[in-house]
Amino acid sequence: MPNFRISRRAALSSTAALAASAALPRFAIAQAKPLKVGLMLPYSGTFAQLGENITIAIEMYLAEKGGKLGGREIQLVKLDDESKPELGPQNADRMIKRDNVDVLIGTVHSGVQMAIHKAVTESGTLCIVPNAGAVAVTRNLCAKNVFRASFSNWQPAYGMGVALGKRGVKKAAWMTWDYAAGAESGEGFKQGFEANGGQVVQVLTLKFPETNFQPLLAQVPGLGVDAVGAFFAGGGAINFVKDYAAAGLKVPLVGSGFLTEGVLGPQGAAAEGIETALHYGDGLENPRNTSFRAAFKSRAGRDADVYAVQGYDSAQLLGIGLEAVKGNLDNEAALHKAMREARIDSPRGPISFSKSQEVVQNIYLRKASGGLNKVTGVAVENLADPGTGCKLSS
Ligand code: BEZ
Repeated sequence: MPNFRISRRAALSSTAALAASAALPRFAIAQAKPLKVGLMLPYSGTFAQLGENITIAIEMYLAEKGGKLGGREIQLVKLDDESKPELGPQNADRMIKRDNVDVLIGTVHSGVQMAIHKAVTESGTLCIVPNAGAVAVTRNLCAKNVFRASFSNWQPAYGMGVALGKRGVKKAAWMTWDYAAGAESGEGFKQGFEANGGQVVQVLTLKFPETNFQPLLAQVPGLGVDAVGAFFAGGGAINFVKDYAAAGLKVPLVGSGFLTEGVLGPQGAAAEGIETALHYGDGLENPRNTSFRAAFKSRAGRDADVYAVQGYDSAQLLGIGLEAVKGNLDNEAALHKAMREARIDSPRGPISFSKSQEVVQNIYLRKASGGLNKVTGVAVENLADPGTGCKLSS
């Protein structure tokens, strides 16, 4: 049975409208159908709140636009990907082939992103990545139908490494989960740090999403380092920061900003003073951020975080593309061009896109204090991922 939904506006239930529709060109009839947007995100597990905040912010943007983008009514279809890479291919097939989504917004976990990339590129389904930073998505595996509205794993950690090196820190270790996001963040941290006089002397990992950090923490005193850099996020980051503080280590902890993002409440005093770098933070003053935070708080009952911002910007990016083609996704070249050339007024500040369809953005330095990730400066302005290996021509 074809997945045909009749829009309220088209009022095709009336005889008159039915008669009129017979005379409509195929494109106009297609335009009367809602555009199906699949949200493939984690709604369970350690990244559940990340997926929820992305979703709430997308729904918020759609509500602000009266439920329509580019003249098309938007219908959301949600799927919990559980942050499980092994389920990625079948979940992507389910959304693309069974649910017939026109657009896929997903996902959060880099391993899942990599696992769905083949299905996305082979089907040509427009995909907007609202979080997962897997670098290959906009480097060697870049594709004309894939855009990222969040960050590359390399970006925030590179900013932290630069800031640490510039202040004269010489030796650091990197701790993380053993998967793409942890490794690629570690690579960014190392590049930024070592280009500014530092040296990463040890990388310590555990399996995702394990939280038995004690064997790693026990090694820190023997490493002779002046700082420990880390990538953890969501529920795992709460445990890591608490365990780090409880271990009584004298070595300062820094990180890619996900370490303290959206989790300062449960981390409590353990997070106090931790420095991180991210493309968002508390105290960014711009009119878009002020209205966004107020609206998110009233909708979600909690403060916005970077994940909410990325969800909002994914919806803004889709809106720009659909507006340019008046809701006609078949006009691919114009759709992609408009999205690539988008200049978005984001709550994080203005953002644009690189040739590999990756966000170009400021990476802010932040310090956790009194339950806020207070912005203390800009680690790197307008930072673009290197985009190595991307061969997008159009
Ligand atoms: C990732 O897997 O790419 C990721 C997950 C959570 C926060 C940031 C990155």
